Amino acid sequence: MPLPPKRAAESATEMVQVVLPNDANPLGFILGGTVMHLIDIAGAIAGHRHTRSLLVTAAVDELQFLHPIKVGDLIILKAHVTCAFQTSLEVQVDVFSEETLTGRRQLTSRAFLTFVAIDRDGQRLPVPPLLLETEEEKRVAEAAHARRAERLKRKATG
Ligand SMILES: CC(C)(COP(=O)(O)OP(=O)(O)OC[C@H]1O[C@@H](n2cnc3c(N)ncnc32)[C@H](O)[C@@H]1OP(=O)(O)O)[C@@H](O)C(=O)NCCC(=O)NCCS
Repeated sequence: MPLPPKRAAESATEMVQVVLPNDANPLGFILGGTVMHLIDIAGAIAGHRHTRSLLVTAAVDELQFLHPIKVGDLIILKAHVTCAFQTSLEVQVDVFSEETLTGRRQLTSRAFLTFVAIDRDGQRLPVPPLLLETEEEKRVAEAAHARRAERLKRKATG
């Protein structure tokens, strides 16, 4: 029986954390590896909420760090499903810094992650389709299909 489709809003996830000295390099900026870890977590939460299954991370597309995030700033991660395929799905994670005293926000990274749904034996599981209700959602899903094709091409060519 086909799985019922779900809206992106049902799994959209926001994580907020304060950057502490333990997360930072000697310049007082959050470590890139810590940001990558949080991106994986935020993306996986959105993926779990959409699929309600176990997931593995299959791919993380190119990642840039556009601005530093300082100790004492907030790091905000917003994750949402852009497209569901057969057993995999793409999640977009936008990372923002927010200055606690001024509220100034900046986009610092954008990441696209692919997760594959599996059961406890590692068998692939079908994922619920994503409901595409607006023109913007359809445009986003189309872009996700194009990224997926590129990813699989890169994987095939090593
Ligand atoms: C990710 C993984 C399950 C893919 O296995 P595979 O046998 O190469 O892929 P399959 O042919 O079974 O494909 C399963 C799905 O994953 C997608 N996929 C596989 N590799 C992918 C990649 N590199 N990028 C994007 N999608 C990928 C396929 O397109 C397919 O999606 P679909 O069913 O929606 O069309 C496998 O490589 C793996 O277990 N990797 C390690 C994962 C891991 O340890 N992650 C970190 C900790 S969670």
